[in-house]
Amino acid sequence: YSAPLTDAHGRRISYLRLSVTDRCDLRCRYCMAEDMTFLPKSAVLSLEEMGDLAERFVARGIRRIRLTGGEPLVRRGIDTLAKRLGALIGNGLDELTLTTNAMRLAEYAPMLAAAGVRRVNVSLDTLDPQAFRHVTRVGNLSVALDGVTAARKAGLSVKINMVALKDINEDQLLPMLDWCAATGCDLTLIETMPLGEVESDRSDHYIPLHQFIAPLRDKCAIFPTEQRTGGPARYFAVEGSAVTLGLITPLSDNFCATCNRIRLTVEGRIYMCLGQNDHVDLRAALRTGDMGHVDGLIDAALAGKPRAHDFLIERKSEPAVARHMSATGG
Ligand code: GTP
Ligand code: 5AD
Ligand code: SF4
Repeated sequence: YSAPLTDAHGRRISYLRLSVTDRCDLRCRYCMAEDMTFLPKSAVLSLEEMGDLAERFVARGIRRIRLTGGEPLVRRGIDTLAKRLGALIGNGLDELTLTTNAMRLAEYAPMLAAAGVRRVNVSLDTLDPQAFRHVTRVGNLSVALDGVTAARKAGLSVKINMVALKDINEDQLLPMLDWCAATGCDLTLIETMPLGEVESDRSDHYIPLHQFIAPLRDKCAIFPTEQRTGGPARYFAVEGSAVTLGLITPLSDNFCATCNRIRLTVEGRIYMCLGQNDHVDLRAALRTGDMGHVDGLIDAALAGKPRAHDFLIERKSEPAVARHMSATGG
């Protein structure tokens, strides 16, 4: 059985985001509440089970897998899963990537490169040590920067993910671009999305990207490029800079019409959309070993994939999606 993955809106699904843990060693304000409760061990798939599901998805036409969390590098045994999935590259899989906060990247970069990972996305919202501590609540900037350096040394391409936050990192765009040029990284900006209750009202910090990049536009021209990664970003060349600038605008200019992705959580649920609550649980079927049943559930999930997300940034409104970003890994 290998019917390709197509949804009811005619979109071909070829990209799987695999959240290997809901845990994280940081507590970013826009992502988590300060007192998060994490899943008990009994609710969590083993990495072997995750590998089995991932292989099933590749047999069904998934071409790219991105490992996410929480923070994927805090999951014990992640190297074994990375190697197993890396072995699929060229055998159905085109690309294995990872999104990380870089706290453990210095330790893991050589392993990732050896497993076949070629590029990683690193979440880094500011180069100011105090602001970094403020945003992550517990993080140490120099550890993240050492992680990026180690990744570059190991031969990995690095894209920095910077969530645009009004009054918090608006002053950091130009320094971040310069730093990316110096370290050989690319830079993608992301509009903050309302998932899960966090202590502060996220709408206070929301800023549309066209406004966030105004200081850059005042200084130099940016040109749209045709470059695509299969991800949601639109890419731009920056006059006088080698850095490719990506813009991810789920709120000001959504990209749902070309969505090619689904998400698998560590509980074994498929979420069809980051900005919706609908999901299908594969765990029970997986644990009975009935892969035919698993395939049927995957088909049912795809048939229900919504046309677009339900995000609204509205002052003091409850988020449309109750789960936190860390549950699905973005
Ligand atoms: P590449 O383009 O392959 O580098 O990956 P990516 O940019 O899709 O992945 P990454 O993990 O770096 O995610 C960047 C941001 O895009 C995160 O904030 C994600 O939550 C967001 N994102 C990724 N996919 C979607 C999506 O389908 N819908 C929405 N609304 N946001 C998404
Ligand atoms: N809105 C937008 N991006 C977010 N991320 C985490 N929470 C949010 C949010 N509420 C980003 C992280 C990481 C990526 C996977 O998602 O910074 O780079
Ligand atoms: Fe952890 Fe990433 Fe969430 Fe920050 S954004 S708390 S690094 S999962």
